Amino acid sequence: MTGETGHKLRGDYSRMRPDYTVDQEWDAYAPAQHELWRRLYRRQESLVPKYACPEFIEVLERLDFGAGIPRFDVTNEKLARATNWQLVAVPGLLPDLTFFEHLANRRFPVTVWLREPEEFDYIVEPDIFHDFFGHAPMLFNPVFADYMQAYGRGAIKAHALGAIEMLARLYWYTVEFGLIETPKGIRTYGAGILSSGGEIAYCVDSPNPNRIGFDLLRIMQTRYKIDTFQETYFVIRDFGQLFDATEPDFTPYYEQLRGREPHAPSAVLATDKVYHRGVAPQRAA
Ligand SMILES: [Fe+2]
Repeated sequence: MTGETGHKLRGDYSRMRPDYTVDQEWDAYAPAQHELWRRLYRRQESLVPKYACPEFIEVLERLDFGAGIPRFDVTNEKLARATNWQLVAVPGLLPDLTFFEHLANRRFPVTVWLREPEEFDYIVEPDIFHDFFGHAPMLFNPVFADYMQAYGRGAIKAHALGAIEMLARLYWYTVEFGLIETPKGIRTYGAGILSSGGEIAYCVDSPNPNRIGFDLLRIMQTRYKIDTFQETYFVIRDFGQLFDATEPDFTPYYEQLRGREPHAPSAVLATDKVYHRGVAPQRAA
């Protein structure tokens, strides 16, 4: 298995099933790993009340995953009751189609390994802290949970139509780095932000990045940065907007967008609903 940049992935892919799932083997985590989880959790827990959307905060307060690395089977009982989703243990990043098939069947793949202490602030590949802390709480929200499944189904179709790059941008700018309007101002629901010690405050407080209203076709033709904080964040009004946007068949959109030059990550267009126009280039993540 190799990642996006061609480097060898660090997970153990030797014992997985055909759908890339493995057993979590919770008993094999070392005490030091549980302690590292607790440190990561405490830092994010202190930031979440100010920057996360209320739906995320509510789940975190109610279920409290701060005691140590969570057991997927315990969370799955609660998740099944809430939205009929399941977490499945995987060695790390998956081939696109395998990942989408899990989503389409209401299964979210969660990496089993935890980062090393020296990776406290930044990690290249998603680990269990990113996958679980960032993604699992949002799967308890019924509308967001339905969006994730709709996304998976749409992505399988996009894969067959050679349009996966456009759908990857949608995932990036919503599931990973999305912002949302709330009565307390703009907050985040994106897992890449919620699991980050730096970007969680930056995406809301910093004058540097653009904050622009969610626009499906605009997002599908906007490139993104993987090694710095985002230059543009897209803001949804509510999760219903997200779900509704994925309802139509995207096939005509792909036809419309194919061959067009994508927008730069920093671009602001005349047609954008601008919440905030960024003032400076981004610093490295
Ligand atoms: Fe993620």
